[in-house]
Amino acid sequence: MAELLLSDPESPSETSPLWITAVLGDDLFLDIRDLHRATGYFSYDPGFTCTGSCLSGITFIDGPKGVCLYRGFAVPELVESAEALEVAYLLLVGDKPSTQQYMQFRREIQQHMLVHEKVKAMFSNFTINAHPMAIMVAVIGALSCIFSELDPLNEMHRWLACTRLIAKVPVLSCWAYKTSIGQPMMYPRADLSFAENFLYMMFATPMEEYKVNPVAARAINAFMILHMDHEQNASTSTVRIAGSSQANPYACIAAGVASLWGPAHGGANEAVIKMLEEIGSAENVPTFVNDVKAKKEGVRLMGFGHRVYKNYDPRAKVMKGLVTQVLKELGIDDPLLKVAQELEKVALNDEYFVQRKLYPNVDYYSGIMLRALGIPTSMFTVMFAMSRTVGWVSQWNEMVAEGQMRIGRPRQLYVGPKQRTWRDAKGANGEAAGDGYQGLMKVQPRRSSSFSKRVPDVPSAYKAESTVPSSPEPSPHAEADSEDEALADAFWTSCKAAASAPAPPPPRPRPPRTSARLRKVPLGLSAAPRSTIDSPASVPSLRDESADDRGSVVA
Ligand code: CMC
Repeated sequence: MAELLLSDPESPSETSPLWITAVLGDDLFLDIRDLHRATGYFSYDPGFTCTGSCLSGITFIDGPKGVCLYRGFAVPELVESAEALEVAYLLLVGDKPSTQQYMQFRREIQQHMLVHEKVKAMFSNFTINAHPMAIMVAVIGALSCIFSELDPLNEMHRWLACTRLIAKVPVLSCWAYKTSIGQPMMYPRADLSFAENFLYMMFATPMEEYKVNPVAARAINAFMILHMDHEQNASTSTVRIAGSSQANPYACIAAGVASLWGPAHGGANEAVIKMLEEIGSAENVPTFVNDVKAKKEGVRLMGFGHRVYKNYDPRAKVMKGLVTQVLKELGIDDPLLKVAQELEKVALNDEYFVQRKLYPNVDYYSGIMLRALGIPTSMFTVMFAMSRTVGWVSQWNEMVAEGQMRIGRPRQLYVGPKQRTWRDAKGANGEAAGDGYQGLMKVQPRRSSSFSKRVPDVPSAYKAESTVPSSPEPSPHAEADSEDEALADAFWTSCKAAASAPAPPPPRPRPPRTSARLRKVPLGLSAAPRSTIDSPASVPSLRDESADDRGSVVA
């Protein structure tokens, strides 16, 4: 049997198979960066269900086991023992801060909480009932007008961008809410913690003194930690792709906010409450579950299911405990909690959900807790965005610092019309319009719900087109093609063999990093050497720089 072994460009004398292992977990990855050059094939993977797009040392998820770690620390432990800003430092810098580092980080964040008055003035232009997420996309993007002189490759500029975003996004979030209800916007206060400041800016008015409820502050602290990062989800991938072109980081984060908004992602927390309200009471749960299983138009069990978790989302477990605790401490009896609990019980015992390994995710219970704190439904996803900003900036910074800046540019499988001439075309209903797009529409009728049930298969017509040469003449490249096919066969055989191999040898350590500047990541096929990502402790501390070195980008 042929086995495809490719030499490691970093040590050409050695050969290594194509798989890569990560530092944690059982997942094996194939390094297919040179797949096309070696075999002539691209991979087709809509939704990136089996594609790793980067190396990262920030968050680790073990989907089958239901584990989530930030820089190696279990998220439930962090919720119990850490302050939101400590976790922000951990994610951004890579390790737990010392007391002194934490105090300085807090001070820095506080200093950056003031938002330029020009950006504040923008809020007056939004209509009073604008969705706060719509406002967030606009105002975070607008920060790039104020901080346009940024060099993403400059470590200090990056630090400033990251800390400013962590500091200012909560302020903008609260202002978005105040705008949507027509109340005066409140400025942040230096004497309050991160979570307390959020509650103050949300609920205080200039008319009377506002006392922060410690139960609410603890709940917000926990909410923030639970949502801060979650490896390469849709919005984080959006931020990384936007950042890969070296775009302004504020604009990249605005792109992340847009991606988060949808109900399949961060918008699910809002959608869960709407769903529970529609169900109304526990006795209607069985009918609703039947509608979900029948895939009735627009019906899905929101807050359930996850691309990576095939077990109970550990964040959801924490959130579930938190909801009961917060409601009890605040003396609130929310009828939606009973509906949610009954729905969870029925779903977890139903074959449809069991078979598909669908469990509650972090969004299932979070809305009920936020409601109890008096936060309106339209703000739920904004709160997710505010917390996830920490993860976005950490991931963006990691990408640039680690030199993983190859521009994100996926391929596509073209299924449109064949080449034709404009002069001869008769228009949409004319015979010369071709069957490309219209043909595709016939194969793929419009989805009945807002969620695509399954990634569409490639229409068979196109499959045939792509594998059978259209020309009746023997292809002049036939020989080369069959060689390519043989090579590809060998490649996949070796891939399968690698995947079923008992245990990969331990990855060779990578030379320690000496600089946080952009490094050119060598291209080409390699296996073990590149699988070793820097341990969190070796992520360079951006804190070493003197605050005086900030330069002219400080506004
Ligand atoms: N309700 C009913 N059926 C579901 C659900 C659900 N919530 N989630 C998945 N399924 C079914 C789906 O119909 C499919 O069934 P079949 O094999 O018969 O076609 C199967 O399970 C696999 O689902 P999928 O849509 O291929 O899974 P995915 O990995 O592409 O989607 C998801 C993941 C989170 C978008 C999806 O589970 C979902 O839509 N959940 C509801 C929305 C939600 O709660 N989103 C928040 C995600 S967690 C927070 C975050 O990261 O934003």
